[in-house]
Order: sequence, then structure tokens, then C-alpha cells
Amino acid sequence: MKDTRYSFEDVKIHNNENSCWVVLANSVYDVTPFLNEHPGGADILLENAGIEVTDQFFEVGHSTKAIMLLGKYKIGELIDEDMEKRRLRRAEKLKRQKEEEEKKNRKIEKILKVIDSTYVQVCCGIALGLTVTVLFHLYSKK
Ligand code: HEM
Repeated sequence: MKDTRYSFEDVKIHNNENSCWVVLANSVYDVTPFLNEHPGGADILLENAGIEVTDQFFEVGHSTKAIMLLGKYKIGELIDEDMEKRRLRRAEKLKRQKEEEEKKNRKIEKILKVIDSTYVQVCCGIALGLTVTVLFHLYSKK
């Protein structure tokens, strides 16, 4: 049973309390018997039923115990075609995240440059102001 291959289309229809399947990495899990035992509640599993939950699962910070528990509910793996689809989707997502991160960094660098030049300008302004004030006082005393 654990060697059976499924497509995302096969998984998609198991999206309710009578049959609740999820995909984690390249594996398919039938978590229907676990719905009422899930410490995070049945609702969150049902909201994510029939889809890939890898990111959601790891974002919650599940313990090793939770990861070990997965084996009990594994019913198979994705078909090769969907494993490849998944790999491409994740690679694309990573690329987008990297681009966004770089965009954010460029923005921060730009702001820092402006602050830097403003800082220098303000310091020069203050120095010039002080010089003029000192010279003014020196000459007005004569
Ligand atoms: C698919 C199989 C899953 C298993 C076997 C599983 C197992 C567990 C276990 C054992 C816990 C107790 C805390 C721990 O030991 O980490 C837990 C908590 C929790 N799980 Fe899951 N979980 C699964 C899927 C999910 C998914 C897909 C989500 C979210 C989309 C989720 C959300 C949560 C939340 C919110 C908690 C409560 C965390 C807390 O209160 O600290 N779980 N789960």
C-alpha cells in the first residue's frame, strides 16, 4: 500500500472528514483516522485536505514525534510526473523568494546611501555654520 503511486488529481478529491488525504514532500498520507487525534485540531487538517501541506507542516514547527507519526498514515507516493511538477513549482517559488529578498536588500542599500549622504551634508552644514559664527564673533569684537 505504501508503494502505491497517486497524482495530485487523485489526492484532491479526498478533502473531507470521510476521507482526508494530504501530500507532504513526495509522499501521500491518509490522515482520516488521525483527524480527531490531531493535537492541532481536525479543522486545520480539513482546511488543508486534498493538497500539499509541506510548508504548513514545517511552519508550525512540528516535533520529531509528529514527524515520526507520519509513517503510520503514509499510503503512497506521488507519480513521477507530479514529483517533477512539484520540484519545478518549489524551484520557481525559491527563485521568486530570492528575487524579492534581493529587491528588499537593494531598497535598504539605497536608503542607507541617502542617509549616509544626508549625514555628511548635515555635518558639513554644522561645521560651516560654526565657522561662520566664530568668524562673525571675532570680526564683530574688533
Ligand atoms: C499531516 C500529518 C500531521 C501530523 C501527523 C501532525 C501531528 C501533530 C502533533 C503530534 C502535534 C503535537 C505537537 C507536536 O508534537 O509537534 C501537532 C500539533 C499541531 N499541528 Fe499537526 N500534524 C499534521 C499536520 C498538520 C498540518 C497540515 C497543520 C497545519 C496546516 C498542522 C497544524 C498543527 C498545529 C497548529 C498544532 C498545534 C501546535 C501548538 O499548539 O503548539 N498539523 N500536530
